[in-house]
Amino acid sequence: MDQSLDYNYKVVKQFAIATIVWGVVGMLVGVIIAAQLAWPSLNLDIPWLTYGRLRPLHTNAVIFAFGISGLFATSYYVVQRTCQVRLFSDKLAAFTFWGWQAVILSAVITLPMGFTRGKEYAELEWPISILIAVVWIAYAVVFFGTIIKRKVKHIYVANWFFGGYILAVTLLHVVNSMSMPASLFKSYSMYTGVQDAMIQWWYGHNAVGFILTAGYLGMVYYFIPKQAERPVYSYKLSIVHFWALIFTYMWAGPHHLQYTALPDWAQSLGMVFSLILLAPSWGGMINGIMTLSGAWHKLRTDPILKLMIVSLSFYGMATFEGPMMSIKTVNALSHYTDWGIAHVHGGALGWVGFITMGSIYYLIPRLAGQDKMYSTKLIDLHFWVATIGVVLYIAALWIAGVMQGLMWRAVNADGTLTYTFVESVKASYPYYVVRVIGGLLYLGGMCVMAYNAWMTLKGRETPRARIPELSMAA
Ligand code: HEM
Ligand code: HEM
Repeated sequence: MDQSLDYNYKVVKQFAIATIVWGVVGMLVGVIIAAQLAWPSLNLDIPWLTYGRLRPLHTNAVIFAFGISGLFATSYYVVQRTCQVRLFSDKLAAFTFWGWQAVILSAVITLPMGFTRGKEYAELEWPISILIAVVWIAYAVVFFGTIIKRKVKHIYVANWFFGGYILAVTLLHVVNSMSMPASLFKSYSMYTGVQDAMIQWWYGHNAVGFILTAGYLGMVYYFIPKQAERPVYSYKLSIVHFWALIFTYMWAGPHHLQYTALPDWAQSLGMVFSLILLAPSWGGMINGIMTLSGAWHKLRTDPILKLMIVSLSFYGMATFEGPMMSIKTVNALSHYTDWGIAHVHGGALGWVGFITMGSIYYLIPRLAGQDKMYSTKLIDLHFWVATIGVVLYIAALWIAGVMQGLMWRAVNADGTLTYTFVESVKASYPYYVVRVIGGLLYLGGMCVMAYNAWMTLKGRETPRARIPELSMAA
């Protein structure tokens, strides 16, 4: 059998399944740490289960295991379909799958053991960090190699977003991870003091910009037009907002370091670029939502489309909230409070989670040779349970966050603080309980998805998908 006549669906399927499995695991850890914040004794006095160790496990599992597996699956599918060629190398693609699973397993083992570099979203110690770099370069070769050997002259815009994300992550990861090993499991950053902080947040913010944003916009530009059976609303806008987005994101990192030892001008620069960022972000949101023009009625019956469109609404909300929070006077209130956590999860659960779920729901039947998922009703159930979960989570923490900020700055007439810190913790308790409920609902939705995917894939071979001989729309 000449495989070069088919698309490589095997690796797409492996990554799609990994996305669901790691989604359940990462969100479960999220629920556990949310519960620990409400009831601290849940760490059971076992070092591996303490909050400080499980929190980075949660962030690594949801971003790198769930999030990036989803990006691998979708980018490999989209680049093949839109270039009308098989992936550049099957072996290298298989290496990226197993290599990435090895990275995730190393994280699952080392983080609870307490091995960490202490840099947020870049905690994994240097040997794992090197493995990440190797797998990532292989990813870049597979992706860009496929683009180079394409049969279609035009490079579809979704590939621009995926390509931008792959290139930027290479740069961010390599520069921010530069460190001096002291032993096999301990290393120290090559940068010191305020430079270290600046580089860390240049990385951290662009991880948001290129992984949690550009990569998922790649999904938006392929899967929404496909699911809605409508062309992208404005192709011109997609190109303009692509360039504006990637240029602007790079400068906004200092908004994570307002009122720190960073030079004042750098803090203000970060704020100004964050405010500008609203425009290209909303360009993407509007383009995605307007793609539904003439097909709005489909939202009534298609829960996959509902997940996709609601994800764009959350994207619009998070990218309005972010620029506001970067304004120094607003940040003086929001920083260190749960408002930040609400902002993160509006983006993470609402935007990143929903667009990933929608895209994976699109893929699974095609990877099982079926025309739809095992149960459309269960997708609808997932949509509603998860939506209620997100709303409970973020509404509770918005209230808790603003309340904490106001309590911390309240002063009496004689200049003393009105509240002790502990009083603000006590006042936050009910909201932490509501977050646990919201998280449980969101996790429940993910479990429903896992069941539905299992029933769709069970006992079914990955179908052969022939590459058309004449170039035509993918
Ligand atoms: C069931 C769903 C989830 C629950 C219950 C949950 C819960 C939590 C909790 C309790 C924290 C720590 C907050 C703190 O330190 O005050 C946290 C942090 C975080 N979570 Fe989640 N999470 C969930 C899903 C996700 C998903 C799907 C993503 C990403 C795609 C995500 C990304 C993050 C990030 C980036 C942080 C760190 C935020 C920061 O440092 O500002 N979470 N999560
Ligand atoms: C125009 C777009 C955005 C801007 C200008 C922006 C701005 C901000 C600001 C000002 C903070 C708080 C920094 C602090 O006080 O420490 C923040 C935190 C954060 N944002 Fe956004 N945001 C944007 C979009 C998003 C999106 C779409 C996501 C997707 C999930 C996201 C994820 C995060 C995360 C994970 C953090 C917490 C970082 C940490 O402290 O660990 N942001 N953002």
